[in-house]
Amino acid sequence: MNMTYKKVSEGELKWDDQHFPMDVLEGSENERAIDIRKLRGTTGLITYDPGYVNSGACQSSITFIDGQKGILRYRGYDIAELSTHCTFIEVAYLLIHGNLPNRDELGAFSKLLTEHAAVEENLAHSFRHYPENAHPMAILSAMVVSLSTWHPEVEVADNDLDKTVTQILAKVRTLASCAHQQSRGETCTPVPPKFDYVNDAMMFTLPLIGREMNPVLVQAIDKLLILHADHEQNCSTSVVRMVGSSGANLHASISSGICALWGPLHGGANQAVIEMLEDIYRDGGDVNKAVEKTKDKNANYRLMGFGHRVYKTYDPRAKIAKKACKEVLDHLGVEDPLLDIAMQLEEKALSDSYFQDRNLYPNIDFYTGITYRAMGFSPNMFTVLFALGRLPGWIAHWLELKKDPENRIGRPRQIYTGPNARETVSIEER
Ligand code: SDX
Repeated sequence: MNMTYKKVSEGELKWDDQHFPMDVLEGSENERAIDIRKLRGTTGLITYDPGYVNSGACQSSITFIDGQKGILRYRGYDIAELSTHCTFIEVAYLLIHGNLPNRDELGAFSKLLTEHAAVEENLAHSFRHYPENAHPMAILSAMVVSLSTWHPEVEVADNDLDKTVTQILAKVRTLASCAHQQSRGETCTPVPPKFDYVNDAMMFTLPLIGREMNPVLVQAIDKLLILHADHEQNCSTSVVRMVGSSGANLHASISSGICALWGPLHGGANQAVIEMLEDIYRDGGDVNKAVEKTKDKNANYRLMGFGHRVYKTYDPRAKIAKKACKEVLDHLGVEDPLLDIAMQLEEKALSDSYFQDRNLYPNIDFYTGITYRAMGFSPNMFTVLFALGRLPGWIAHWLELKKDPENRIGRPRQIYTGPNARETVSIEER
């Protein structure tokens, strides 16, 4: 179902004695954009927009976000519906294929995930050469791009989409579990798949052998993976698209996305939140002090897990993640003081004019770390879990880019502010 934008009106840009006619385009959710594709060729001007705050890089039919109303939909389905009624694998199929799978499609997809879960012994062996405390995101990114050396066929198998995507989905899950074992100083021994995708994803922490899976934890992980599955043109997805636009293969593009996600302003925030909450706890648990500190620009201090480029209201995923957090801790009988601090911090910030004036609310990363910690994941695994969730979204965007007739290699422009032309002089004269 390939929709596209339509031209809804015409405008004009005027400056000095010049003008530039511009079309206004509109998408399927009535979002509008000024079409500046001919601006530079016609006028010699470029637009200036650090961080691409106001710039659309592509058309996409995968995810819709209304940041003012706190709406998030994958292929038209609301995130609350999907996280309640579907499994992560159904949502992964939806993002990649455009529709939820029927029973046969789901069965075939799940079967391929199990078949492709094993990683080559040499690849698993290479984990052992990393330092014991190596961050699993560094290992995961390196291993994902290395996968392309073992599976060059993946890049050309356009005619067998399910094999291409299930290879990546299945093997990255196994690599993630290896990265986790390595980060705990354990030898990476990829355990053959025993359950389904998410149950096996729980291999990271729970001594599975001989123990039944805890259905409450598996369901919580499944829900959290769904919440992370896609988020339109966020930083890491834009990187996957940018790298893919050069013709780089799917593994290389995803490996780049993993690196972008690692940053504490993006997916790495879920680890930074826990570190922030632990600091507040060690400092006596004074949330007022933390909130006041964010207002001191010299302190260069932010409430991690708060704020968002698009949401100017409560992140709908954070609401679901907060509920899941309480359910998991109640089920495990865990009394985590960090949850109390997080809830006090949220209450204090949401009633503070600094946060209200800037529309700063909890985002997806604010509560997820507390849940993962209660399940036994170490903090440096939290962003790996984010990456595992985001994987189908990255794959869907990479595939969409390849099919987009308007796709061109990404190459933004700049305003040059360096030295004007000058000539070299001998070293004696410098
Ligand atoms: C994710 O894009 C996506 O969709 C991302 C994501 C996804 O699913 O892919 O949703 C996942 O990355 C969520 C965000 C996780 N990051 C954090 O929680 C880190 C803390 N948040 C901020 O650094 C910030 O809010 C960002 C990075 C999320 C958004 O940055 P913007 O849009 O560039 O906003 P900004 O830095 O220009 O801030 C605007 C104002 C500033 O104050 P003034 O200069 O106007 O006085 O708000 C302030 C900022 O100082 N501000 C904060 C704040 N976030 C912004 N002040 C205190 N604490 C914060 N967390």
